[in-house]
Amino acid sequence: MDLNVNIAGVILKNPVMPASGTYECNSIHDNIFSPDEPGAIVSKTIFINSREGNAPPRICETPCGMLNSIGIPTAGVNNFIRDRLPVLAGFGVPVVISIAGNSLEDFCKLAGIIESTGKADLLELNLSCPNLHHGIEWARDKNELYRVIKRVKEVTNLPVIAKLSPSVTDISEMSLIAESAGADAVALINTYKGMKIDINKRKPFLGNIAGGLSGPAIHPLAVYAVYSSFTKISIPIIGTGGIASWVDAVEMILAGAAAVGIGMYNFVNPLIMREVISGIEAYLKDNNFDSITEITGIAHL
Ligand SMILES: Cc1cc2nc3c(=O)[nH]c(=O)nc-3n(C[C@H](O)[C@H](O)[C@H](O)COP(=O)(O)O)c2cc1C
Repeated sequence: MDLNVNIAGVILKNPVMPASGTYECNSIHDNIFSPDEPGAIVSKTIFINSREGNAPPRICETPCGMLNSIGIPTAGVNNFIRDRLPVLAGFGVPVVISIAGNSLEDFCKLAGIIESTGKADLLELNLSCPNLHHGIEWARDKNELYRVIKRVKEVTNLPVIAKLSPSVTDISEMSLIAESAGADAVALINTYKGMKIDINKRKPFLGNIAGGLSGPAIHPLAVYAVYSSFTKISIPIIGTGGIASWVDAVEMILAGAAAVGIGMYNFVNPLIMREVISGIEAYLKDNNFDSITEITGIAHL
């Protein structure tokens, strides 16, 4: 069975990868789930300088999902390159580095620094974090979105994935803008902005007041984001949002995702990525397909 997918010239041995910020690993000998099993490894978003993230509490459970307002704590790019990147690059699967910045210049500088290490295969631009000051605006404003992707593409030879926000009127329009600015792929979707009120304290529950909603609650919304973008763009889509089983992943692929990202469910079931890979393989076999690419987007036919 051919599970290979091609994301902007990078071949993944299967279409499954962690969503940024939801999977950390230190060793290939991980006895729960080995980080060389997914098609790619994706880093937590990094910034140039260290950051502490948002005030606690930073996460809370919701019906069928989770709100987080982590706010991207990071040790900064130099520490990341020294401590984490060699570990990620050592797993032997393509490495996606997720970057974010406070300015367009930050994005460009980080892209250059990461490329110069020679240890990254793809760059993911986190243009859509609802927990940062100005985090989501990149993906909400058509001009900003175009400008940042175009500038990053001018300064790097690494393939660029634009990670977009569902908190817009029509995400398929934003996917089209990302493609026209030169993005090599889009990741759909980041979390939905939401909040919870503590009824006893009569105050917002999260330290940052609002957070990002992820998990099964957003899955049908993510499938629609992928489905509606698929007919507008020709670059690959990494379908992310609420995948909790291989069935959810197959749905995403039929809607048009070339690959899938698994986020919150890694916390619920540490074996989820393995189960999704084998479930997709069994689905293809049971339905007499030879390769994953045969089913990409066929819900449109
Ligand atoms: C705890 C947590 C941390 C996250 N951190 C990041 C991050 O650093 N960068 C990013 O682009 N997305 C981040 N995300 C968003 C996920 O990558 C993903 O896009 C989103 O959660 C939807 O997928 P899911 O429903 O499978 O979780 C985070 C999500 C969670 C739950």
